[in-house]
Amino acid sequence: MTNLARNSTRNFSSKQVDLDTLKAIVSEAQQAPSWENSQPYHAFLATGETANKIRAAHEKAVADKTKSWTEVMPPQDWTAAADANILDWQYQASNHPESKEFGDLNNVLFNASAILYITIKKDASSYVAYDAGAFGYGVLLAAENHGVGAIPAYGFVRYPQEIHDQFEIPDDEAIFMGIGLGYPTEDPINQFKPGRDDLDKILQIKD
Ligand SMILES: Cc1cc2nc3c(=O)[nH]c(=O)nc-3n(C[C@H](O)[C@H](O)[C@H](O)COP(=O)(O)O)c2cc1C
Repeated sequence: MTNLARNSTRNFSSKQVDLDTLKAIVSEAQQAPSWENSQPYHAFLATGETANKIRAAHEKAVADKTKSWTEVMPPQDWTAAADANILDWQYQASNHPESKEFGDLNNVLFNASAILYITIKKDASSYVAYDAGAFGYGVLLAAENHGVGAIPAYGFVRYPQEIHDQFEIPDDEAIFMGIGLGYPTEDPINQFKPGRDDLDKILQIKD
């Protein structure tokens, strides 16, 4: 499959992905380029019972209306163009036949049977974020190549304690991103595939 076929899976089945496949996905993502090959991130993979525990803790935090937060500051100001794209995405999601599910499935971490967390140093520069993002996209593409669905989502990292309870994450590292992995259900929400800007909107060429 090519990267054009990829989209985010938002409802995973309970079927487990075998560990060798998950390890192959992460290993292939390690081919991502990084500043002087620094590979300045770590990955923590929750599967099976650990993923169940994290999802249960997450559901409880949502039900208790616990205030959420992230260890890396979310974007504060978008450009006008990014703002317009977000509005467009929200419009598409809210007009989707399964619109209610977007929120509901976020609250159960999309039922992901496996969750990969990416950490970076707390004082990391934006270039480290570039490298970690390349690695994260590598995970999505490798998953697609292995017939495994995936979604990167803020929802995975907004209650950091549920992750710290399961993993020993060094004090100087921040949980940056979470990626859900697993097999997609037949739910039509998994077909949701928002478009992208016209190329000339983001690309200026001079020759
Ligand atoms: C940093 C980041 C955070 C995201 N957070 C969420 C989220 O909390 N909930 C969600 O449904 N999708 C989330 N997504 C998925 C995006 O909505 C999705 O990637 C985007 O709409 C493009 O769609 P596609 O992945 O299907 O190509 C996130 C993606 C990224 C990269």
